[in-house]
Amino acid sequence: MSTGPKSANIVRSQGRVTREHREELLGQRGCVAWFTGLSGSGKSTLAHALERSLHDEGRLVYVLDGDNLRYGLCSDLGFSAEDRTENIRRAGEVAALLADTGAIVLCSFISPYRSDRDGVRKTVGDGRFLEIHVDASVAVCEQRDPKGLYKKARQGHIPNFTGIDAPYEAPASPELRVDTSTLAIVDAAYQIRQTLASRGFLAAPAHPETES
Ligand code: ADX
Repeated sequence: MSTGPKSANIVRSQGRVTREHREELLGQRGCVAWFTGLSGSGKSTLAHALERSLHDEGRLVYVLDGDNLRYGLCSDLGFSAEDRTENIRRAGEVAALLADTGAIVLCSFISPYRSDRDGVRKTVGDGRFLEIHVDASVAVCEQRDPKGLYKKARQGHIPNFTGIDAPYEAPASPELRVDTSTLAIVDAAYQIRQTLASRGFLAAPAHPETES
């Protein structure tokens, strides 16, 4: 959770270009679609498929991916509960900034703890945050095992592996749930696209503030 600046002597600066101006320029509304689910559930595959199709229809869209952020911004973090919480906090802050540019931000993180995801919802703002449960059981993900990690975890080589010896708290009421054990990626991506459209994110704001 953000607690505000460490120093008391920090004052926010304000620009003259607002998010609404940028959204008018782009013809879309900034938002965060947050994909949560087990490793191997299809979060990243889905995020990249949707990124491709939204880009192809002329949208500004960007994927933030857990594995990728762990090479840079989050390279000091591991998989303890505390480190995952910090990982999700940082990812949430970056997602909120990107959404403020007017972009459609697709976030792919296991994000196993409900309270961490709720924290991101607060950071981004409830109306612009869509929690998408990419649902596939441990058995299905373990059978897929695209990176060979479940095998390693079962052999005891990866401690705190989500679904094996670390918890996953499924969302109680996500904006959308896609079951990737029965749904093809292309169909799941389309469902998410339609959810974004029906909530107005694929059109410019109705009454943009145009004053400069
Ligand atoms: S999160 O729990 O903090 O949200 P994140 O999405 O960034 O995790 O990273 C998950 C990826 O790290 C997995 O897809 C997997 O490739 C890798 N990984 C390595 N160790 C673990 C572990 N102990 N538990 C889960 N995933 C792990």
